[in-house]
Amino acid sequence: MNLRFRRMREEDIEAVYRINRRSFTTDAWSMDAIRREFKLPYSHRFVAEHEGRIVAYSFVWLIKGEAFIMTFAVEPEWRGRGVGRWFLKKLIDIFKDKAQVISLDVRKSNIPAIRLYRSMGFKVVRERPGFYSDGENALLMELRLDKMRTDVGDKGKETEHVDR
Ligand SMILES: CC(C)(COP(=O)(O)OP(=O)(O)OC[C@H]1O[C@@H](n2cnc3c(N)ncnc32)[C@H](O)[C@@H]1OP(=O)(O)O)[C@@H](O)C(=O)NCCC(=O)NCCS
Repeated sequence: MNLRFRRMREEDIEAVYRINRRSFTTDAWSMDAIRREFKLPYSHRFVAEHEGRIVAYSFVWLIKGEAFIMTFAVEPEWRGRGVGRWFLKKLIDIFKDKAQVISLDVRKSNIPAIRLYRSMGFKVVRERPGFYSDGENALLMELRLDKMRTDVGDKGKETEHVDR
């Protein structure tokens, strides 16, 4: 599979909106919320593209040396094939020299995501009770980038195109 990791463009918004809708229920972002990200100086936006089709995306806020993954998803048909891990490695590679830490909130029941984050070295920092609109708790997870400025990120430097 030939994937390209690149910055999101405004023309990607509809595809990103669609993946977001298909990936999150109560917490899906509106089109306006997605458009707003393009105006925020601290918002960094990325997609993975396969033959012209967007298959994954993420919005990351970088504020005062802390990167926060606001949302991250892989299109349902593309899950379980290593895209999420590959994408997360790219994010870590990009932010490892810009931030001391990269963190995110994840639903406590979201086992696939929690397993992925744990396997990449993320640790649970704390639980946030009733964080989501349906009352579910979030786990705040983080990866210290200042302590691991070598291994994971270096792999991401190999190429922009990845054949798997
Ligand atoms: C979480 C998500 C991004 C993972 O993407 P993916 O492309 O399916 O993940 P990968 O194929 O790269 O798998 C990476 C690891 O994730 C975990 N994982 C993925 N799917 C899993 C599943 N169905 N059950 C349990 N663990 C799973 C495993 O640890 C896996 O590693 P392994 O294959 O060595 O066991 C994807 O499931 C998704 O978009 N989910 C909906 C949106 C979401 O929850 N986003 C995160 C919000 S914080």
